[in-house]
Amino acid sequence: MPARTLRGRFLRPRADQRTFDDLPDALLISDETGRIVSFEPTPPGSGVPVTLPGVVWMPGFVDAHVHFPQTRVVGRSSGGLLTWLERTVFPEEARFDRGAYADEVAAEFCKALITHGTTTAAIYGSSHPLATSKLFAALDRSNLRAMAGLTLMDRGAPPVLCMPADTALLACEALIEQWHGVDDGRLRFCVTPRFAVSCTPDLLRRAGALAARYDLPVQTHLSETLDEIAAVAQAFPGHASYLDVYAAFGLVGTRTVLGHCVHLSATEWDALAASGAAVAHCPDSNAFLGSGVMSLADATARGVRVGLGTDVGAGRSFSLRRTCAAAYDAALSRGARIGPDEALWLATVGGARALGLEAEVGLLEPGFACDLAAHDVPAGLDTDALFDHLAFRAEVGSVKNVYVRGRRAV
Ligand code: GUN
Ligand code: FE
Repeated sequence: MPARTLRGRFLRPRADQRTFDDLPDALLISDETGRIVSFEPTPPGSGVPVTLPGVVWMPGFVDAHVHFPQTRVVGRSSGGLLTWLERTVFPEEARFDRGAYADEVAAEFCKALITHGTTTAAIYGSSHPLATSKLFAALDRSNLRAMAGLTLMDRGAPPVLCMPADTALLACEALIEQWHGVDDGRLRFCVTPRFAVSCTPDLLRRAGALAARYDLPVQTHLSETLDEIAAVAQAFPGHASYLDVYAAFGLVGTRTVLGHCVHLSATEWDALAASGAAVAHCPDSNAFLGSGVMSLADATARGVRVGLGTDVGAGRSFSLRRTCAAAYDAALSRGARIGPDEALWLATVGGARALGLEAEVGLLEPGFACDLAAHDVPAGLDTDALFDHLAFRAEVGSVKNVYVRGRRAV
């Protein structure tokens, strides 16, 4: 792996504030392991040429919630969550019983992440083990960083998407064996029960036990829509809350990422915060399906870690820049304005911390991985205009060089 020296304009995230320092001319040096060795304003007379004129470098985006087998149904509207799952999502996800189809889409999926400047993703794989293995293989070849899992369902979906707990857990073990920890932890397996509606208590219990046995991250959906919450209350009577259903099966802890969290009471936010779980905020998806608007302020006030998720295919784009705009809109509509820099910070450092990668990803400091993307930007933007441009003009400009641990993502 080549050691790299990059010179140019950088947005360097702050560790303790949701913003960035704008360094108009800085030099970033990484070693042959892809770790940052030094990063500082370019010293006078350095003699290093500007690496790519016209770009701003920033940490690669972290997509904290995205569905691989929905790549080809992005932007397909058919109703609210449960109707959309039935009409749009399940028929498409059923196609992944063919390995060749999964192969094709996995290549498209990885390409979409890279072309939007995303270097890390928390991915809901297929419900088919072979297709999920093909996803891992494509991520490996692409040099992306990811955690991904077999999407677990044993009820509430067409039979081709459901797998009995016994078989599903064996398939998870095989995937763990093959993919968990590959390339020094660049790829990780994540226990991924789809949501309580599509899992029996037995499946949830075993998923929780699997996560504990292998010390794995967990991802699932929580309180996205009112219909869904009603269905969970009916299927799991006797629990204090939707969160409590997952907690009862050992699925909630500091390694858990909960998608959506739109309809939580203050008490539920308190319980979530106390559990140490993180949130994947998916504001574009929430708008598209009419799910509601998550209260970012409730998470922030309690110190809950938050990342941003495109939630493709309910999210209409693989672009975390678009998700930043949606997060801004969502916050405004709840009367709790955030800045575009805060949204961009959540899409980078926030996501890295939500996914448990805080020691390696997000910040641009010595010791951190050289996970970067170069965004084309118009000349002459001051710092505020640059934040606005990145968050609100996602359609302008392209992403140039994307690196994970200093290696090109392809
Ligand atoms: N809840 C359960 N499955 C899904 C899904 O695929 N997308 C979204 N947005 N919510 C879900
Ligand atoms: Fe989702």
